[in-house]
Amino acid sequence: MAYEHILVETRGPVGLITLNRPKALNALCTPLIQELGQALDDMEANEEIGAVVLTGSEKAFAAGADIKEMAEKSYMDVYMEDFITNGWERITTCRKPVIAAVAGYALGGGCEVAMMCDFILAADTAKFGQPEITIGTIPGAGGTQRLTRFVGKSKAMEMCLTGRIMDVEEAERAGLVSRIIPAAELVDEAVRTAEKIAALSRPVVMMAKECVNRSYETTLNEGLRFERRVFHSTFATEDQKEGMQAFTEKRTPKFINK
Ligand code: CAA
Repeated sequence: MAYEHILVETRGPVGLITLNRPKALNALCTPLIQELGQALDDMEANEEIGAVVLTGSEKAFAAGADIKEMAEKSYMDVYMEDFITNGWERITTCRKPVIAAVAGYALGGGCEVAMMCDFILAADTAKFGQPEITIGTIPGAGGTQRLTRFVGKSKAMEMCLTGRIMDVEEAERAGLVSRIIPAAELVDEAVRTAEKIAALSRPVVMMAKECVNRSYETTLNEGLRFERRVFHSTFATEDQKEGMQAFTEKRTPKFINK
């Protein structure tokens, strides 16, 4: 499929999606979100792909939902089209890992999309914020909920109430990003990280992802029980046998995704 607002490529077993609306700092207009959903559908269905990297430009991962598109919408418009729900949440239903590689601005919906990914690798130029309050609205793609879970109430509240932008060091200290990478190496390092994941057992990677995500949805005891059951189920895979046998034989495992 030909895309207008994103670039899509594969690098070995890694699907790379680049948000590409440079004149609007990758503002997330509806057609872009639809294209992103289509690309993710294709990558989920493609057996060659084991992990996905989502990135933007050097200047902006994404500067938010498209303010010009939203400005004139009425309450009935956004309610009836179920604005945001419809399309945006596709990232959160991916079973394959999705890594956000963030350089420059990740603001509003941009920060929210990054937080929908499984983890965030950030360039030393990255800046995160939820500035919606400064344009008379509030985060609508999960900012008040996911940011609070990442960085805690105090910092999330300050950011949502003032629109203050966090630099990357603060974002790393607060646990929003997993690692800071020099900007020039960001995408290559994200692809290398995704390649490492793609070389592992696909079903076991999916199980690990499902368990970590479950920790956001449940009590500790229920989460531990869920993890234990899934851990046990890995013993039904050929990849668990191969992985442990390869360890004892001091060789690299050959996973077959079964
Ligand atoms: N929507 C639409 N267009 C945007 C945009 C956005 N979110 N962010 C930037 N642009 C456009 C600008 O309008 C400008 O276009 P023109 O040249 O046609 O005027 C172009 O991108 C470049 O932007 P600037 O000239 O503003 O660039 P800058 O370097 O001076 O500033 C910035 C960069 C600080 C990121 C600034 O662009 C900015 O504040 N952007 C808006 C950030 C924001 O408020 N995001 C939240 C959006 S609401 C939301 O996301 C809701 C939700 O939760 C889902």
